[in-house]
Amino acid sequence: MINVTIDADGIATLCWDMPGRSQNVLNEASCTALFEAIARVVQDDAVKGAIMTSAKPDFIAGGDLEWLLNTDQAAVLLERVTALHRALRKLETCGKPVAVALGGSALGGGLEVALAGHYRVAADNPKARFGLPEVTLGLLPGGGGTQRLPRLTGIQKALPLLLEGKRLKAGEALKLGIIHAVAPAGEEVAAARAWVLAQTAPVQQPWDVKGYKVPGGAVASPAVQQVLMAANAMTHAKTWGNYPAPQAILSCVYEGVNVDIDTGLAVEARYFVQMVLSKEAKNMIRSLFFSMGEANKLASRPPDVPRRRYSQVGVLGAGMMGAGIAYVAARAGMRVVLIDRDQPAADKGKGYSHKLVEKQAARGQLAPDQAQALLERITATTDYAQLAECEMVIEAVFEDRALKADVTRKAEAVMPAGAILASNTSTLPISGLAEASSRPEQFIGLHFFSPVDRMPLVEVIIGRQTSQATLAHALDFVQALGMTPIVVNDARGFYTSRVFSTYVLEGLALLAEGVAPALIENAGLQAGMPVGPLALTDEVSSELIVKIDRQTRADLGAAYQPRPGHQVAARMVELGRIGKKAGQGFYDYPDGGSKRLWPGLAEQYPRAAVQPDVAQLVERLITVQAVETVRCMEEGVLMNARDADVGAILGWGFPPFRGGPLSEIDTVGAAGFVQRCERLAASHGPRFAVPALLKTMAADGQAFYPPR
Ligand code: NAI
Repeated sequence: MINVTIDADGIATLCWDMPGRSQNVLNEASCTALFEAIARVVQDDAVKGAIMTSAKPDFIAGGDLEWLLNTDQAAVLLERVTALHRALRKLETCGKPVAVALGGSALGGGLEVALAGHYRVAADNPKARFGLPEVTLGLLPGGGGTQRLPRLTGIQKALPLLLEGKRLKAGEALKLGIIHAVAPAGEEVAAARAWVLAQTAPVQQPWDVKGYKVPGGAVASPAVQQVLMAANAMTHAKTWGNYPAPQAILSCVYEGVNVDIDTGLAVEARYFVQMVLSKEAKNMIRSLFFSMGEANKLASRPPDVPRRRYSQVGVLGAGMMGAGIAYVAARAGMRVVLIDRDQPAADKGKGYSHKLVEKQAARGQLAPDQAQALLERITATTDYAQLAECEMVIEAVFEDRALKADVTRKAEAVMPAGAILASNTSTLPISGLAEASSRPEQFIGLHFFSPVDRMPLVEVIIGRQTSQATLAHALDFVQALGMTPIVVNDARGFYTSRVFSTYVLEGLALLAEGVAPALIENAGLQAGMPVGPLALTDEVSSELIVKIDRQTRADLGAAYQPRPGHQVAARMVELGRIGKKAGQGFYDYPDGGSKRLWPGLAEQYPRAAVQPDVAQLVERLITVQAVETVRCMEEGVLMNARDADVGAILGWGFPPFRGGPLSEIDTVGAAGFVQRCERLAASHGPRFAVPALLKTMAADGQAFYPPR
């Protein structure tokens, strides 16, 4: 676990090497080993100094989240962090020099252990990152990070790491004083050793030296007060208080950095336990860490199908989506044949990659030869014959059934026998599109999101005839792109568009009820959604909502139940205010200025005399999405809660602190949620009607996720 060796000079090397794991983590076993190793360094008179390092590529990846979440007992959690604090304090106050040699990344608990050393030397490793990303999972650094980092760098410089979870490269960490030196890769242990040997007097941390002052000023200094106040206001404004961790981190700094470090650590421990037990952290860890991790490892992949590696793929249609898909495939090292109706259109699609790599090259994120190689992998053409060696072809032409059928036939005429045809349609059922295919078992939906290079989700849609092997190979493709897949069964709107639209339409329904537009938008943001429903409607355009409404009506006839929001979208189209692309919708979009709510809305939708409480609106906007998600589960569109929650967070920005729509229901409890739906259905109609699945779950006391 931690191998301790003592050499002839009396230097102990504590080498982390957890068996059976690719990374070292802090858990019950490794903490016990760490405490024993520290006790030995401190107590053994033969030991003159120590080096801590790792036999793995990275130092320590951080705390083991399974371990962290395996108890709900505050006293147990408090004892765990306090024991770690005690051990690290013992190490840093023993007087013997302790150097930490970092071959790779030290993140979270890993960096916190390293901060207890007196000297940190990092290898010159471009992959290594240093930071305290706990906040991104609703936690705070509980291993002393909120206390040692600001005491080391000053409060101002520590805040971006603590509050945003910023990860630094070795050079940046050196500049901030988080590490003391960078050594050539492979020489970091020797450098650490040289430093230990050079120490002739007892070593102390700066904060244990009498008269120590926090660099840049203590908490009480006016400049720091100002920074803390601004940070406080900003974290609150940005998150509407939905995320307690940034506030708790600020409290740790505020209350802890002015007092002695032992008191500061006790403050941190208390807030840390609060955060671990918070529902927000539990939701974020479940969805952003465990569920997303499972999705990325292709938990939904049919087993026993050999993996497929992709070297060449085709893209039909070089428009907004096709150009983006071509870029991400080329970025992943694949050769790409990018086809459009004419050469200028195909070239324009490739031009998109040009722009992206130029930007990255200018920022130094991509070497010129890599940029060149990426572009050379993309062939822009009109010639379908070039698809002859493509293992996968993604269709992204206009949203038109007949056109999609035509290009499908053309492509399949030249594609190799085992190749897959994937449609990026956003609204047309996959099984219907597959009717144009001569091999419907090799036809699948791969629904990318815009902009493709920044949206990590791909909704994989299984058609009626899609084979298990095709599903497995499509998932291999998504993984090769470095993106996150969710798997759904074919249905109108699939999963993401269907549930996302309920949020937008509920916002429009509120407008029709006479709720003030600004209040609706604020409610969306307070609910934790990234954009208010009216602004979002403008983004997708009321025209598209009306188009889908008409198509659904035509397909379903009497069975179709439009939502009240549809009428509002139709009215906006009649008024010519179709959305952002027209420069006018619910908002005005003045040239060069920022958008403003259209004053004419007051005339179209007069305000009701009594305005609802914002909390009621938040409840409606979230509940409407959660209920529709349950219907997707009930109808078998979704196959598991994991894909529901991951898809919602990554696909349309469902608030991570809620963990996704199904986590939201678990947080409330099925019984409570049923009551909520019944109340909303009574006042607002059948779109809130309780799905049978939820009733059963409430009666049986079930949840979507088993307790961890
Ligand atoms: P777009 O209009 O930007 O691009 C479509 C491209 O297809 C154009 O470049 C057009 O010249 C080309 N094309 C038309 N006929 C062709 C033919 N016979 N052969 C080859 N190329 C042909 O459209 P966009 O936005 O890229 O959408 C493409 C598909 O992706 C649609 O099915 C759309 O529903 C879907 N989608 C769109 C999203 C979006 O946010 N725009 C998101 C997810 C899916």
